[in-house]
Amino acid sequence: MKGTRKVAIVTGGASGIGKALCAELVAHNVFVIITDIKVQDGKTLQAHLNEKALNARFIHLDVTDCKKVERLIQKVYEEFGRLDYLFNNAGIAMYGELYDMSIKNWKDIIDINLWGVIYGTQIGYQIMKKQGFGHIVNTASAAGLGPSPVSSAYSATKHAVVGLTTSLHYEAEGFGVKVSTLCPTFVDTPIFEEAIAIKINKSLMTQQLKKQKMMSPQRIAKITLKGVHKNTPVICPMPMRKTIDVLCTIFPSLHHALMRLVCKVSREARISE
Ligand SMILES: NC(=O)c1ccc[n+]([C@@H]2O[C@H](COP(=O)([O-])OP(=O)(O)OC[C@H]3O[C@@H](n4cnc5c(N)ncnc54)[C@H](O)[C@@H]3O)[C@@H](O)[C@H]2O)c1
Repeated sequence: MKGTRKVAIVTGGASGIGKALCAELVAHNVFVIITDIKVQDGKTLQAHLNEKALNARFIHLDVTDCKKVERLIQKVYEEFGRLDYLFNNAGIAMYGELYDMSIKNWKDIIDINLWGVIYGTQIGYQIMKKQGFGHIVNTASAAGLGPSPVSSAYSATKHAVVGLTTSLHYEAEGFGVKVSTLCPTFVDTPIFEEAIAIKINKSLMTQQLKKQKMMSPQRIAKITLKGVHKNTPVICPMPMRKTIDVLCTIFPSLHHALMRLVCKVSREARISE
């Protein structure tokens, strides 16, 4: 299948933002390798994207398995002779007070949200550096740009992804490789229902979170590809973000009050002994 058509790999591509990214990439005539641990959802998306023409293939991939990530990226590169885009997007959410968390909780989220992104970036970057082009897009979060009380592990993984990706953005440019991080805020996906909730009433927490204005995954996908096109280092589609940043810098007490509110709302969902 070697040719001129662009090729993308999307991890966590069977649901939410990843799924919308796959559809948007196909709309831009990119052939998409959908990867996920959700086999049925991945196959359904593959069938949907292939209705009009051959546009996509689903392959099972758990991003915590470094060897399998390496094999998949290498195989795609050998078959297509190119790798234009790699979206390291798979991720999970985790809520909980730090004092309720175990080391296993930390390992579980770091394995997916951080190691999964590191494996993809490390392997995809070598290939893109060799071919002299390509774009890696790592999904972080607005929680990777500031504090996120009662989600500190999630926030820690996303800060690490932002640090890795923004640093590589500049390191890679001399080799023709582009690198961006996507930092969404609230997007209407199953991530809230599927989150790991540690001593937190998940449905109450989800109810609270869903009171926020949610963006559709389709809108995020469109904004992301625009950011990719412009090679934006941090794609942060948060409405009013700059205004909020300025206000919080001028009035730090405003930011503090906001963080206290986040703690209060999260604690109302805590399951006490
Ligand atoms: N939805 C939001 O509001 C929001 C906000 C900021 C950041 N994000 C980030 O966006 C990314 C996508 O999340 P989403 O909201 O679309 O959620 P989602 O739950 O709809 O999609 C996440 C996908 O990742 C997959 N996944 C989980 N563990 C995996 C593993 N070990 N290997 C491979 N795939 C795995 C899931 O099966 C799922 O299909 C995540 O990194 C998330 O942290 C989401």
